[in-house]
Amino acid sequence: MAERRSVKDRLPTFPWDRLAPYKEKAAAHPGGIVDLSVGTPVDPVPASLRAALADAADSPGYPQTWGTPKLRASAAGWLERRHGVRVAEEAVLPAVGSKELVAWLPTLLGLGEGDTVVHPELAYPTYDIGARIAGATPVASDGLAALGPARAGLVWVNSPSNPTGRVLGVPHLRKVVEWARERGAVVASDECYLDLGWDGTEPVSILHPDVCGGSHENLLAVHSLSKRSNLAGYRAAFVAGDPALVSELLAVRKHAGMIVPAPVQAAMSAALDDDAHAAEQKERYRARRERLRAALEGAGWRIEHSEAGLYLWASHPGHDAWGAVSHLADRGVLVAPGEFYGPRGASHVRVAFTATDERVEAAAGRLAR
Ligand SMILES: Cc1ncc(COP(=O)(O)O)c(C=O)c1O
Repeated sequence: MAERRSVKDRLPTFPWDRLAPYKEKAAAHPGGIVDLSVGTPVDPVPASLRAALADAADSPGYPQTWGTPKLRASAAGWLERRHGVRVAEEAVLPAVGSKELVAWLPTLLGLGEGDTVVHPELAYPTYDIGARIAGATPVASDGLAALGPARAGLVWVNSPSNPTGRVLGVPHLRKVVEWARERGAVVASDECYLDLGWDGTEPVSILHPDVCGGSHENLLAVHSLSKRSNLAGYRAAFVAGDPALVSELLAVRKHAGMIVPAPVQAAMSAALDDDAHAAEQKERYRARRERLRAALEGAGWRIEHSEAGLYLWASHPGHDAWGAVSHLADRGVLVAPGEFYGPRGASHVRVAFTATDERVEAAAGRLAR
């Protein structure tokens, strides 16, 4: 009998397990660990969003896969108000957090063996995972020209980037769109940090008319409320863009039961209708970013990119990535080695500034010593 090959066998080992000994070391610090290794929100869910969730708690029936008309109107409204992007309400589809959509998009689009999924060289690992789940071939490449005639089914861009915080300008994004359109490839733009530009940086959506010339054909933008609205625990995201692609995704997701719970849809709608809580949260991150950046630079670290998002992309002349992780763990500070995001990260660490003010202050104090 032929042996079954599990999907798990196509996937790499979970890299975070390799960080465990450093986490233990950092936790042994007398002042306690400062965990800056993951970008998970630590501040409360805004009261208005909790109220919206609770008000929709009596939801005995199945929710709509497509999202309520109210949620789709809120998403379209936010895109237009905040990012100058106009989409029809039919061109919006909620997802159970954006990681779910990223991991399943190649499969949902019907990609598989013989298809290529291109993603940035330094990247959130789930683009690669999604290609592998589908049985497609992941290719890490920042230079599309270098791909030659390879048939790309899907090209991921991620601006602002995790892990580097780099923001791609309009000309760069426009070139990606043109390249993909010439080849019939879909461009998926992971824009979960779009609202988090610093020092005057204003990240632009792939769906903005300056980038795509007003046509969303073959384009998808993925948005998440995890970071903007402290909703990582709610699993709240959506995809918008090409109406034909969105309806294709909807058709498959309906059959597969990939549905956002109704109370979460209500909380998402409330979050997208309100900018005040997001501005308040952004100010918290701004202060933490400035504190950590100054402390790292004062201790001889170099920060590259990091003009947007929730991370500082840092390197130290005395250490490679794992050496830097170890050096900081000795001070009770846990960060992620750049290597987790691709071989080009071998001399960097990613420092998340998603810790409380108190923990950020503790880290800054330890760096100064
Ligand atoms: C680039 C990127 N995409 C997607 C996600 C997933 O976010 P969520 O599933 O919470 O929407 C993250 C989370 O850190 C991320 O950094």
